[in-house]
Amino acid sequence: MNLNNVNKVDPVKRFVEKETEFEEASPMNPPEAFSPSTVEPVAYHDMAPFLQKLMDEHKVLITVLENFESALISWKKNDWYFNDEINKKLNELFSFLDNNTPGHNKKEEKLLFPLLHSRLLQTGEHSTGDEPKTAVDIMEDEHIKVAQLGALCLNFLGLGSRLEDNKSSEIVFELAYEQGKTIVETMRLHIYREDETLFPLAMKLISNEEFEDMESH
Ligand SMILES: [Fe+2]
Ligand SMILES: [Fe+2]
Repeated sequence: MNLNNVNKVDPVKRFVEKETEFEEASPMNPPEAFSPSTVEPVAYHDMAPFLQKLMDEHKVLITVLENFESALISWKKNDWYFNDEINKKLNELFSFLDNNTPGHNKKEEKLLFPLLHSRLLQTGEHSTGDEPKTAVDIMEDEHIKVAQLGALCLNFLGLGSRLEDNKSSEIVFELAYEQGKTIVETMRLHIYREDETLFPLAMKLISNEEFEDMESH
């Protein structure tokens, strides 16, 4: 994946920049309050330890996703026949989604996101409308989306394996494959947005003390 391209088209980044332009035009929010230039990359060693741990967990997940993707591709090339290697790598992701992802997402959703969401609202980094939305809302939606895609993919794999008619199982396996690819793409972009946009924003808007408080939970 070319991260430069992602950066150019990333809707979260565009969203932040668009809203910032709007806010800059508002007399209630002086331009220096927030501008796109404030979403500057923050090096790993300058991140709060709480965020570093989340980034470490992202790294582990990226490896699992890479293995999962390579297994999907070999499985398709192998005319939908499973082998031990493919099974192992596919299962690795599903057990990761079961055992590791919920704890990771919970840390983000319970400790980081509520405070970040309210800071984004305070600094004008939100959509307009009756219910203002921030980048945090997008991240939370993606947590749900990936859990649903994981369940769907696993169900298609099970169903396809049980079907006796080859043509029918091929159709279902093709669906499992597509869901699997979407999981990989969604998670990669999600991690990229958190590491490159959300967490640097959090470093701007949340104090060391507040991060330490999150860590003590
Ligand atoms: Fe997340
Ligand atoms: Fe995350």
